[in-house]
Amino acid sequence: MTALLELRDGVCQYGTTRAVDHVTLALQPGESLGVVGESGSGKTTVLRMLLRLAPVTAGQILFEGTDITEARDLSALRRAVQVVFQNPHAALDPRYSVFSAVAEPLKLMGGVGRAALQDRVAALLEDVGLHGDFLWRYPHELSGGQKQRVCIARALAPGPRALLLDEPTSALDVSVQAQIIELLAGLRARHGLSYLFVSHNLSVVRLLCSRVAVMQTGRIVEQGAAAQVLSSPTHPYTQTLLAAVLPPRATA
Ligand SMILES: Nc1ncnc2c1ncn2[C@@H]1O[C@H](COP(=O)(O)OP(=O)(O)OP(=O)(O)O)[C@@H](O)[C@H]1O
Ligand SMILES: [Mg+2]
Repeated sequence: MTALLELRDGVCQYGTTRAVDHVTLALQPGESLGVVGESGSGKTTVLRMLLRLAPVTAGQILFEGTDITEARDLSALRRAVQVVFQNPHAALDPRYSVFSAVAEPLKLMGGVGRAALQDRVAALLEDVGLHGDFLWRYPHELSGGQKQRVCIARALAPGPRALLLDEPTSALDVSVQAQIIELLAGLRARHGLSYLFVSHNLSVVRLLCSRVAVMQTGRIVEQGAAAQVLSSPTHPYTQTLLAAVLPPRATA
């Protein structure tokens, strides 16, 4: 099977900082891959390299088997692979209505008339659990969770095959996080999407991802089936990471 998106022996060097140090990672069609690791370990940089948004100092990026490390025309990649960032408050321009935000990628793709555009945006909003009244709201009239739903609808607009999600719930209230995770799980099932899911939250990764890669100081130190890695980690760093999140039960 040809991977949807792949980083081969990738290095990203920023001055003297090696943010990513010889990482190999493949996202298969339809799979959900978690990337975990402490702050500064290179998770976001890997995601940005895959999107060709961070420099690829060495190594290769492959999209559906084609080397795109130096490609100039990234339109196929941009359509097929969309990204959802951590902070929905920063991701939405306060001057634009929900309709405008979600319609923008559709307008850029062209070929959709005004009436069809409104129907399409309404359908996208419905898909993320927002009813039609939300079309004409502005970001300041939305909760954090609703904003993230709008960002997800916008990411779905071009009909992508994969979403790269960079801690999509960590800026939200704890009570809202579970709803967004549930939404993401449902969307993946309905649309057969691939997810690359960056998170600090190992229990969420366990819930959402079939495979997981553990990063430490720019490298992948462990990679495998999520159930396996998160229940019986072999690498001491993963053990530490797990212990930090799931403290052992206090003895009475
Ligand atoms: N644009 C940049 N210029 C210089 N250094 C950078 C840049 N982006 C990231 N870095 C550095 O690269 C390393 C990896 O950063 P990255 O953002 O990928 O980590 P992360 O695992 O996503 O961390 P967090 O969990 O805090 O989001 C860090 O040392 C960071 O300071
Ligand atoms: Mg990050």
